[in-house]
Amino acid sequence: MRPSSPVRCCRRTGSPSRPASSRCGTASRCRRAVQSDQPVTGAPYWNHNVHYHRTVLAAVPSGCRTALDVGCGDGLLAGRLAARAQRVTGVDRSPEMIRQARARQAGNGQPRNVTYVEADYLDGASLPACAYDFVSAVAVVHHARFGDAINALTRLVAPGGRLIAVGLAYNHTPLDRVISGCGLPASLLCARLRGGKHDPVGMPVEDPPMHWSEVRGAVRLLLPGCRFRRRLLWRYTVVWDKTQNGGS
Ligand SMILES: C[S@@+](CC[C@H](N)C(=O)[O-])C[C@H]1O[C@@H](n2cnc3c(N)ncnc32)[C@H](O)[C@@H]1O
Repeated sequence: MRPSSPVRCCRRTGSPSRPASSRCGTASRCRRAVQSDQPVTGAPYWNHNVHYHRTVLAAVPSGCRTALDVGCGDGLLAGRLAARAQRVTGVDRSPEMIRQARARQAGNGQPRNVTYVEADYLDGASLPACAYDFVSAVAVVHHARFGDAINALTRLVAPGGRLIAVGLAYNHTPLDRVISGCGLPASLLCARLRGGKHDPVGMPVEDPPMHWSEVRGAVRLLLPGCRFRRRLLWRYTVVWDKTQNGGS
């Protein structure tokens, strides 16, 4: 675990050792991202989380009836999932994010098969257990203790369903820094090609409290049989399938 540091600052640009979207550091638990000139109901935009939406969408099982995007933020991914699942729920505990998600839905004529719920996915009561064929969580797991987050997410997955988490970790070793350094030119190039990097105004963000090997070890322990990949733009993806009898 990262030793607690009293104050870490929000910075706008990326660096190999502190990936851009993972660095809104805090003395308090949580802060809001402020780096956006994107209107709430605006067109899709790009950032390091959005970059992996394609990976998330590709993981949706065919014939998916119910999908849940946990920590849905402004609903960009939930809207995209609507084309792949019969019914999509986006859940976020931030009233502002749910407001923006609904505004995006109304403004963009987003499909009507998406419902937004303001709730805490960790509380065990707001969302039905074993109810979703597909559960995604992009840049959300590190907002809670890792084990609590994974247990809550796996509980939501229906038997035979799938979980994908896109997550963050911090650099701990020289090799971590080298690998992250390789992401920098890719990030700059993507941002240039995609019209810059934008985050929704007011989106709650946190620093990841675990480094890469801690995350890898915890994932192996808690999600046996999962497929874990460290990605270039300072994210990992982990895909886990629940068996028909509810295990992995
Ligand atoms: C860094 S943002 C990512 C948002 C979105 N997934 C994306 O990729 O743009 C993390 C989101 O997770 C939400 N979140 C964090 N913990 C949560 C919890 N326990 N229950 C519901 N939402 C949560 C925050 O409110 C925030 O909108």
